[in-house]
Amino acid sequence: MTQSGPASFNPLAVSNQTLHTPLLNILADRIQREGPLTFAEWMDACLYHPQHGYYRRGKPTVGRDGDFLTSPEVHPLFGAAVGHVASELWRTNDRPEPFEIVEVGPGTGALAESLLRYLHTNIPEMATTTRYTLVEPDPTSSRRQSQRLAAVHPQDRIHSVDRIDRRSGSSHLVVANELLDALPVHRLMFKEGCWNELLVDHSAAHGFHDALFELTGNRMLDTLSGVKPAEGQIVEIAPARAAVVTALANVVAECGLLLLFDYGYTRERLYASWRRDGTLMTFRNHIPGDDPYTHPGEQDITAHVDIDQIRDAALRAGLTALPTLSQAEWLHHLGAAVLPAVADANMDTNRYLAARRAMETLTDPAGLGRIAVMGFVRGSGGPLPGWTRS
Ligand SMILES: C[S@@+](CC[C@H](N)C(=O)[O-])C[C@H]1O[C@@H](n2cnc3c(N)ncnc32)[C@H](O)[C@@H]1O
Repeated sequence: MTQSGPASFNPLAVSNQTLHTPLLNILADRIQREGPLTFAEWMDACLYHPQHGYYRRGKPTVGRDGDFLTSPEVHPLFGAAVGHVASELWRTNDRPEPFEIVEVGPGTGALAESLLRYLHTNIPEMATTTRYTLVEPDPTSSRRQSQRLAAVHPQDRIHSVDRIDRRSGSSHLVVANELLDALPVHRLMFKEGCWNELLVDHSAAHGFHDALFELTGNRMLDTLSGVKPAEGQIVEIAPARAAVVTALANVVAECGLLLLFDYGYTRERLYASWRRDGTLMTFRNHIPGDDPYTHPGEQDITAHVDIDQIRDAALRAGLTALPTLSQAEWLHHLGAAVLPAVADANMDTNRYLAARRAMETLTDPAGLGRIAVMGFVRGSGGPLPGWTRS
Protein backbone atom coordinates (compact mmCIF):
# COMPACT_ATOMS: atom_id res chain seq x y z
CA MET A 1 0.00 0.00 0.00
CA THR A 2 1.24 3.42 -0.86
CA GLN A 3 0.48 6.05 1.73
CA SER A 4 0.87 9.76 1.39
CA GLY A 5 -0.35 12.65 3.42
CA PRO A 6 -1.11 12.72 7.13
CA ALA A 7 -3.69 10.53 8.81
CA SER A 8 -6.87 12.48 9.31
CA PHE A 9 -9.30 11.64 12.06
CA ASN A 10 -12.78 10.74 10.90
CA PRO A 11 -15.11 11.57 13.80
CA LEU A 12 -18.04 9.86 12.11
CA ALA A 13 -16.46 6.47 12.48
CA VAL A 14 -15.57 6.22 16.14
CA SER A 15 -16.71 2.98 17.65
CA ASN A 16 -18.80 2.81 20.79
CA GLN A 17 -16.90 -0.31 21.81
CA THR A 18 -18.99 -1.89 24.48
CA LEU A 19 -17.16 -5.12 25.08
CA HIS A 20 -13.67 -5.48 26.43
CA THR A 21 -12.44 -8.51 24.52
CA PRO A 22 -8.96 -10.11 24.74
CA LEU A 23 -8.16 -8.80 21.26
CA LEU A 24 -8.88 -5.21 22.20
CA ASN A 25 -5.61 -4.68 24.07
CA ILE A 26 -3.62 -6.79 21.62
CA LEU A 27 -4.77 -4.65 18.69
CA ALA A 28 -4.43 -1.35 20.55
CA ASP A 29 -0.83 -2.27 21.47
CA ARG A 30 -0.09 -3.33 17.93
CA ILE A 31 -1.31 0.00 16.54
CA GLN A 32 0.75 1.87 19.12
CA ARG A 33 3.85 -0.08 18.06
CA GLU A 34 3.31 -0.27 14.29
CA GLY A 35 0.97 2.60 13.46
CA PRO A 36 -2.50 2.31 11.89
CA LEU A 37 -3.55 -1.04 10.41
CA THR A 38 -5.18 -1.54 7.05
CA PHE A 39 -8.78 -2.67 7.49
CA ALA A 40 -7.73 -6.01 5.96
CA GLU A 41 -5.15 -6.44 8.75
CA TRP A 42 -7.79 -5.51 11.33
CA MET A 43 -10.35 -7.93 9.87
CA ASP A 44 -7.76 -10.69 9.58
CA ALA A 45 -6.88 -10.32 13.27
CA CYS A 46 -10.54 -10.08 14.37
CA LEU A 47 -11.52 -13.23 12.45
CA TYR A 48 -8.34 -15.30 12.36
CA HIS A 49 -6.05 -14.36 15.28
CA PRO A 50 -4.70 -17.79 16.35
CA GLN A 51 -6.18 -17.63 19.89
CA HIS A 52 -8.76 -14.86 19.94
CA GLY A 53 -9.98 -14.59 16.35
CA TYR A 54 -13.70 -15.05 15.83
CA TYR A 55 -13.15 -18.25 13.79
CA ARG A 56 -10.38 -19.56 16.06
CA ARG A 57 -11.94 -19.43 19.53
CA GLY A 58 -13.57 -22.84 19.34
CA LYS A 59 -17.03 -21.31 19.88
CA PRO A 60 -20.03 -21.75 17.56
CA THR A 61 -20.12 -19.14 14.80
CA VAL A 62 -22.64 -20.38 12.25
CA GLY A 63 -25.95 -22.09 12.96
CA ARG A 64 -28.66 -21.53 15.53
CA ASP A 65 -26.13 -21.62 18.44
CA GLY A 66 -23.86 -19.19 16.60
CA ASP A 67 -24.30 -15.70 15.22
CA PHE A 68 -25.72 -16.22 11.75
CA LEU A 69 -27.32 -18.89 9.61
CA THR A 70 -25.77 -20.33 6.48
CA SER A 71 -27.51 -22.52 3.90
CA PRO A 72 -26.05 -25.87 5.04
CA GLU A 73 -27.25 -25.08 8.57
CA VAL A 74 -30.82 -24.43 7.43
CA HIS A 75 -31.58 -27.92 6.18
CA PRO A 76 -29.89 -31.00 4.61
CA LEU A 77 -31.71 -30.03 1.42
CA PHE A 78 -28.83 -27.70 0.54
CA GLY A 79 -26.21 -30.46 0.83
CA ALA A 80 -28.48 -32.78 -1.15
CA ALA A 81 -28.65 -30.18 -3.92
CA VAL A 82 -24.82 -29.99 -4.08
CA GLY A 83 -24.72 -33.80 -3.91
CA HIS A 84 -27.06 -34.04 -6.86
CA VAL A 85 -24.75 -31.83 -8.93
CA ALA A 86 -21.78 -33.95 -7.78
CA SER A 87 -23.54 -37.13 -8.92
CA GLU A 88 -23.98 -35.69 -12.41
CA LEU A 89 -20.27 -34.84 -12.51
CA TRP A 90 -19.52 -38.41 -11.46
CA ARG A 91 -21.68 -39.81 -14.27
CA THR A 92 -20.34 -37.50 -16.97
CA ASN A 93 -16.73 -38.17 -15.86
CA ASP A 94 -17.22 -41.94 -16.44
CA ARG A 95 -17.59 -42.72 -12.74
CA PRO A 96 -13.99 -42.06 -11.66
CA GLU A 97 -12.58 -43.92 -8.72
CA PRO A 98 -11.99 -42.24 -6.40
CA PHE A 99 -14.37 -39.36 -6.98
CA GLU A 100 -12.70 -36.42 -5.24
CA ILE A 101 -14.63 -33.69 -3.45
CA VAL A 102 -12.89 -30.83 -1.64
CA GLU A 103 -14.76 -28.44 0.62
CA VAL A 104 -13.02 -25.29 1.78
CA GLY A 105 -14.07 -23.61 5.04
CA PRO A 106 -16.51 -26.38 6.05
CA GLY A 107 -17.73 -24.71 9.29
CA THR A 108 -19.60 -27.31 11.37
CA GLY A 109 -19.41 -29.97 8.64
CA ALA A 110 -23.14 -29.64 7.89
CA LEU A 111 -22.68 -29.46 4.12
CA ALA A 112 -20.32 -32.46 4.11
CA GLU A 113 -22.69 -34.51 6.25
CA SER A 114 -25.83 -33.81 4.22
CA LEU A 115 -24.04 -34.22 0.88
CA LEU A 116 -22.53 -37.57 1.90
CA ARG A 117 -25.82 -38.79 3.40
CA TYR A 118 -27.53 -37.90 0.13
CA LEU A 119 -24.99 -39.98 -1.81
CA HIS A 120 -25.17 -42.97 0.55
CA THR A 121 -28.97 -42.99 0.38
CA ASN A 122 -29.44 -42.32 -3.32
CA ILE A 123 -26.27 -43.31 -5.19
CA PRO A 124 -24.48 -45.85 -2.96
CA GLU A 125 -22.12 -46.97 -5.74
CA MET A 126 -20.86 -43.39 -6.00
CA ALA A 127 -20.73 -42.91 -2.21
CA THR A 128 -18.34 -45.83 -1.77
CA THR A 129 -15.86 -44.28 -4.21
CA THR A 130 -16.14 -40.71 -2.90
CA ARG A 131 -13.20 -39.18 -1.08
CA TYR A 132 -14.05 -35.99 0.82
CA THR A 133 -11.33 -33.54 1.82
CA LEU A 134 -12.05 -30.74 4.28
CA VAL A 135 -9.80 -27.69 4.12
CA GLU A 136 -9.93 -26.28 7.62
CA PRO A 137 -7.15 -24.19 9.18
CA ASP A 138 -8.59 -24.35 12.71
CA PRO A 139 -7.55 -27.59 14.53
CA THR A 140 -10.56 -27.59 16.92
CA SER A 141 -13.07 -27.19 14.08
CA SER A 142 -11.22 -29.82 12.07
CA ARG A 143 -11.49 -32.37 14.93
CA ARG A 144 -15.21 -31.67 15.30
CA GLN A 145 -15.83 -32.07 11.57
CA SER A 146 -14.04 -35.43 11.53
CA GLN A 147 -16.04 -36.64 14.56
CA ARG A 148 -19.30 -35.58 12.92
CA LEU A 149 -18.51 -37.32 9.66
CA ALA A 150 -17.27 -40.54 11.27
CA ALA A 151 -20.87 -41.76 11.52
CA VAL A 152 -21.60 -40.96 7.89
CA HIS A 153 -18.65 -41.97 5.73
CA PRO A 154 -15.70 -44.42 6.01
CA GLN A 155 -12.88 -42.69 7.89
CA ASP A 156 -10.24 -43.58 5.32
CA ARG A 157 -12.25 -41.58 2.77
CA ILE A 158 -12.37 -38.39 4.86
CA HIS A 159 -9.28 -36.20 4.88
CA SER A 160 -8.49 -32.90 6.58
CA VAL A 161 -5.83 -30.42 5.55
CA ASP A 162 -5.22 -26.94 6.88
CA ARG A 163 -4.52 -25.38 3.47
CA ILE A 164 -5.64 -26.16 -0.05
CA ASP A 165 -2.05 -26.35 -1.30
CA ARG A 166 -1.29 -29.12 1.22
CA ARG A 167 -3.43 -31.44 -0.86
CA SER A 168 -1.93 -33.18 -3.86
CA GLY A 169 -3.84 -34.23 -6.97
CA SER A 170 -6.90 -32.71 -8.57
CA SER A 171 -10.56 -32.78 -7.59
CA HIS A 172 -13.79 -33.31 -9.46
CA LEU A 173 -15.74 -30.93 -7.25
CA VAL A 174 -14.28 -28.05 -5.24
CA VAL A 175 -16.99 -26.36 -3.20
CA ALA A 176 -17.09 -23.49 -0.71
CA ASN A 177 -20.09 -21.85 0.92
CA GLU A 178 -19.63 -18.30 2.19
CA LEU A 179 -15.85 -18.56 2.24
CA LEU A 180 -14.98 -15.54 0.12
CA ASP A 181 -17.17 -13.05 1.99
CA ALA A 182 -15.26 -13.96 5.16
CA LEU A 183 -11.86 -12.99 3.71
CA PRO A 184 -10.23 -9.69 4.74
CA VAL A 185 -11.11 -6.57 2.76
CA HIS A 186 -9.52 -3.14 2.40
CA ARG A 187 -11.87 -0.18 2.74
CA LEU A 188 -11.51 2.84 0.49
CA MET A 189 -13.33 6.16 0.66
CA PHE A 190 -13.71 8.66 -2.19
CA LYS A 191 -13.09 12.15 -0.84
CA GLU A 192 -12.42 15.44 -2.60
CA GLY A 193 -11.73 13.81 -5.95
CA CYS A 194 -9.48 10.96 -4.89
CA TRP A 195 -9.55 7.56 -3.28
CA ASN A 196 -8.28 7.23 0.27
CA GLU A 197 -7.73 4.08 2.28
CA LEU A 198 -9.61 3.88 5.55
CA LEU A 199 -7.06 2.64 8.05
CA VAL A 200 -7.73 1.63 11.64
CA ASP A 201 -6.15 3.87 14.26
CA HIS A 202 -6.47 3.90 18.02
CA SER A 203 -6.25 6.51 20.74
CA ALA A 204 -7.06 6.42 24.43
CA ALA A 205 -9.63 9.17 23.96
CA HIS A 206 -11.41 7.84 20.89
CA GLY A 207 -10.78 4.09 20.93
CA PHE A 208 -10.50 2.46 17.50
CA HIS A 209 -11.43 4.76 14.65
CA ASP A 210 -11.01 5.29 10.93
CA ALA A 211 -8.02 7.25 9.66
CA LEU A 212 -7.86 8.39 6.04
CA PHE A 213 -4.71 8.05 3.96
CA GLU A 214 -4.58 9.25 0.41
CA LEU A 215 -3.99 6.32 -1.90
CA THR A 216 -1.97 6.76 -5.07
CA GLY A 217 -0.31 4.29 -7.40
CA ASN A 218 -1.87 1.33 -5.63
CA ARG A 219 -2.97 -1.69 -7.68
CA MET A 220 -6.28 -1.75 -5.82
CA LEU A 221 -7.19 1.39 -7.75
CA ASP A 222 -7.16 -0.62 -11.02
CA THR A 223 -10.33 -2.35 -9.80
CA LEU A 224 -12.03 1.04 -9.56
CA SER A 225 -10.91 2.40 -12.92
CA GLY A 226 -14.41 2.45 -14.48
CA VAL A 227 -16.23 3.44 -11.29
CA LYS A 228 -17.91 6.85 -10.97
CA PRO A 229 -17.98 7.30 -7.21
CA ALA A 230 -20.05 9.72 -5.16
CA GLU A 231 -18.35 12.04 -2.69
CA GLY A 232 -17.92 10.15 0.57
CA GLN A 233 -18.59 6.73 -0.99
CA ILE A 234 -16.99 3.75 0.73
CA VAL A 235 -16.05 0.54 -1.11
CA GLU A 236 -14.39 -2.72 -0.11
CA ILE A 237 -11.63 -4.37 -2.16
CA ALA A 238 -10.27 -7.83 -1.40
CA PRO A 239 -7.10 -8.88 -3.27
CA ALA A 240 -7.03 -11.95 -0.97
CA ARG A 241 -10.11 -13.35 -2.70
CA ALA A 242 -8.46 -13.54 -6.11
CA ALA A 243 -5.52 -15.41 -4.59
CA VAL A 244 -7.84 -17.93 -2.90
CA VAL A 245 -9.92 -18.45 -6.07
CA THR A 246 -6.71 -19.06 -8.04
CA ALA A 247 -5.59 -21.66 -5.50
CA LEU A 248 -8.99 -23.41 -5.63
CA ALA A 249 -9.18 -23.29 -9.43
CA ASN A 250 -5.73 -24.83 -9.70
CA VAL A 251 -6.91 -28.09 -8.09
CA VAL A 252 -9.99 -28.54 -10.29
CA ALA A 253 -9.64 -31.66 -12.47
CA GLU A 254 -10.44 -31.87 -16.19
CA CYS A 255 -14.26 -31.69 -16.51
CA GLY A 256 -14.39 -30.79 -12.79
CA LEU A 257 -16.40 -27.98 -11.19
CA LEU A 258 -15.50 -25.14 -8.86
CA LEU A 259 -18.71 -24.21 -7.05
CA LEU A 260 -18.79 -21.04 -4.95
CA PHE A 261 -21.72 -19.63 -2.99
CA ASP A 262 -21.40 -16.10 -1.69
CA TYR A 263 -23.25 -12.86 -1.20
CA GLY A 264 -22.08 -10.58 -3.97
CA TYR A 265 -22.79 -8.38 -6.97
CA THR A 266 -21.22 -7.67 -10.32
CA ARG A 267 -18.65 -4.89 -10.04
CA GLU A 268 -20.99 -2.33 -11.60
CA ARG A 269 -23.67 -3.00 -8.98
CA LEU A 270 -21.24 -3.46 -6.08
CA TYR A 271 -19.58 -0.09 -6.63
CA ALA A 272 -22.68 1.83 -7.80
CA SER A 273 -22.57 5.36 -6.44
CA TRP A 274 -25.83 4.95 -4.55
CA ARG A 275 -24.28 2.19 -2.42
CA ARG A 276 -22.55 4.88 -0.40
CA ASP A 277 -21.49 2.91 2.67
CA GLY A 278 -20.27 -0.27 0.99
CA THR A 279 -21.47 -3.70 2.11
CA LEU A 280 -19.52 -4.34 5.30
CA MET A 281 -21.67 -5.95 7.99
CA THR A 282 -21.19 -7.56 11.36
CA PHE A 283 -23.20 -10.37 12.98
CA ARG A 284 -23.54 -11.17 16.63
CA ASN A 285 -26.30 -13.25 18.19
CA HIS A 286 -28.12 -13.18 14.84
CA ILE A 287 -28.29 -9.39 14.91
CA PRO A 288 -26.67 -7.53 12.00
CA GLY A 289 -24.60 -4.46 12.79
CA ASP A 290 -22.40 -1.90 11.07
CA ASP A 291 -19.64 -1.21 13.61
CA PRO A 292 -16.60 -3.36 12.83
CA TYR A 293 -14.67 -1.89 15.77
CA THR A 294 -16.93 -3.12 18.51
CA HIS A 295 -16.48 -6.59 20.10
CA PRO A 296 -13.18 -7.31 18.26
CA GLY A 297 -12.89 -11.09 17.84
CA GLU A 298 -16.41 -11.70 19.14
CA GLN A 299 -18.50 -10.84 16.11
CA ASP A 300 -18.45 -11.87 12.48
CA ILE A 301 -17.33 -9.30 9.90
CA THR A 302 -18.30 -9.83 6.27
CA ALA A 303 -18.42 -7.95 2.97
CA HIS A 304 -20.05 -8.83 -0.36
CA VAL A 305 -17.85 -10.21 -3.11
CA ASP A 306 -17.10 -8.63 -6.48
CA ILE A 307 -18.40 -11.34 -8.85
CA ASP A 308 -16.29 -10.01 -11.73
CA GLN A 309 -13.13 -10.32 -9.65
CA ILE A 310 -13.95 -13.97 -8.82
CA ARG A 311 -14.76 -14.71 -12.45
CA ASP A 312 -11.55 -13.07 -13.74
CA ALA A 313 -9.43 -15.07 -11.29
CA ALA A 314 -11.13 -18.35 -12.27
CA LEU A 315 -10.78 -17.62 -16.01
CA ARG A 316 -7.12 -16.70 -15.59
CA ALA A 317 -6.65 -20.12 -13.96
CA GLY A 318 -8.04 -21.78 -17.11
CA LEU A 319 -11.64 -22.43 -16.05
CA THR A 320 -14.79 -21.60 -18.02
CA ALA A 321 -17.58 -19.68 -16.29
CA LEU A 322 -21.14 -20.99 -16.10
CA PRO A 323 -23.79 -18.27 -15.85
CA THR A 324 -23.93 -16.79 -12.35
CA LEU A 325 -27.31 -17.59 -10.81
CA SER A 326 -29.01 -16.57 -7.62
CA GLN A 327 -29.34 -19.39 -5.11
CA ALA A 328 -33.11 -19.11 -5.54
CA GLU A 329 -32.83 -19.73 -9.30
CA TRP A 330 -30.30 -22.53 -8.84
CA LEU A 331 -32.38 -24.34 -6.23
CA HIS A 332 -35.58 -23.90 -8.19
CA HIS A 333 -33.89 -25.51 -11.17
CA LEU A 334 -32.80 -28.38 -8.91
CA GLY A 335 -35.86 -28.57 -6.72
CA ALA A 336 -37.73 -31.19 -8.63
CA ALA A 337 -34.76 -33.55 -8.56
CA VAL A 338 -33.75 -33.01 -4.97
CA LEU A 339 -36.93 -32.59 -2.96
CA PRO A 340 -38.31 -36.10 -3.54
CA ALA A 341 -35.00 -37.62 -2.47
CA VAL A 342 -35.06 -35.67 0.76
CA ALA A 343 -38.77 -36.16 1.21
CA ASP A 344 -38.22 -39.93 1.19
CA ALA A 345 -41.03 -42.45 1.38
CA ASN A 346 -40.72 -42.77 5.16
CA MET A 347 -40.92 -39.04 5.78
CA ASP A 348 -43.75 -37.99 8.07
CA THR A 349 -45.84 -34.90 7.45
CA ASN A 350 -43.91 -32.74 9.94
CA ARG A 351 -40.55 -33.48 8.36
CA TYR A 352 -41.98 -32.94 4.92
CA LEU A 353 -43.39 -29.56 5.95
CA ALA A 354 -40.05 -28.64 7.57
CA ALA A 355 -38.34 -29.41 4.24
CA ARG A 356 -40.83 -27.21 2.42
CA ARG A 357 -40.28 -24.35 4.88
CA ALA A 358 -36.50 -24.78 4.54
CA MET A 359 -36.80 -24.51 0.76
CA GLU A 360 -38.59 -21.17 1.27
CA THR A 361 -35.76 -19.95 3.55
CA LEU A 362 -33.07 -21.11 1.13
CA THR A 363 -34.75 -19.37 -1.80
CA ASP A 364 -35.91 -16.21 0.01
CA PRO A 365 -35.02 -13.41 -2.44
CA ALA A 366 -34.35 -11.03 0.47
CA GLY A 367 -32.15 -13.54 2.31
CA LEU A 368 -30.23 -16.70 1.39
CA GLY A 369 -31.95 -16.87 -2.00
CA ARG A 370 -29.97 -13.86 -3.24
CA ILE A 371 -26.61 -15.54 -2.66
CA ALA A 372 -24.68 -15.77 -5.94
CA VAL A 373 -24.00 -19.29 -7.23
CA MET A 374 -20.77 -19.12 -9.20
CA GLY A 375 -19.83 -22.23 -11.15
CA PHE A 376 -16.63 -22.71 -13.17
CA VAL A 377 -15.68 -25.83 -15.12
CA ARG A 378 -12.40 -27.05 -16.52
CA GLY A 379 -12.87 -28.11 -20.11
CA SER A 380 -16.28 -28.29 -21.68
CA GLY A 381 -18.23 -30.98 -19.77
CA GLY A 382 -21.93 -31.60 -20.21
CA PRO A 383 -24.87 -29.55 -18.98
CA LEU A 384 -25.11 -29.56 -15.21
CA PRO A 385 -28.27 -29.69 -13.10
CA GLY A 386 -28.87 -26.32 -11.47
CA TRP A 387 -27.85 -24.58 -14.68
CA THR A 388 -30.45 -26.65 -16.53
CA ARG A 389 -33.90 -27.45 -15.22
CA SER A 390 -34.36 -30.92 -13.72
C1 LIG B 1 -18.90 -17.74 6.99
S1 LIG B 1 -18.04 -19.17 7.49
C2 LIG B 1 -18.88 -20.39 6.51
C3 LIG B 1 -18.78 -21.78 7.09
C4 LIG B 1 -19.49 -22.88 6.29
N1 LIG B 1 -18.99 -22.97 4.94
C5 LIG B 1 -20.98 -22.66 6.26
O1 LIG B 1 -21.50 -22.36 5.20
O2 LIG B 1 -21.62 -22.79 7.31
C6 LIG B 1 -16.51 -18.96 6.65
C7 LIG B 1 -15.50 -20.05 6.98
O3 LIG B 1 -14.38 -19.96 6.08
C8 LIG B 1 -13.21 -20.31 6.81
N2 LIG B 1 -12.02 -19.83 6.11
C9 LIG B 1 -11.59 -18.59 5.93
N3 LIG B 1 -10.43 -18.57 5.23
C10 LIG B 1 -10.14 -19.86 4.95
C11 LIG B 1 -9.10 -20.50 4.24
N4 LIG B 1 -8.11 -19.81 3.66
N5 LIG B 1 -9.12 -21.85 4.12
C12 LIG B 1 -10.13 -22.56 4.67
N6 LIG B 1 -11.16 -22.00 5.36
C13 LIG B 1 -11.15 -20.68 5.51
C14 LIG B 1 -13.45 -19.65 8.15
O4 LIG B 1 -12.61 -20.19 9.15
C15 LIG B 1 -14.93 -19.97 8.38
O5 LIG B 1 -15.09 -21.21 9.03
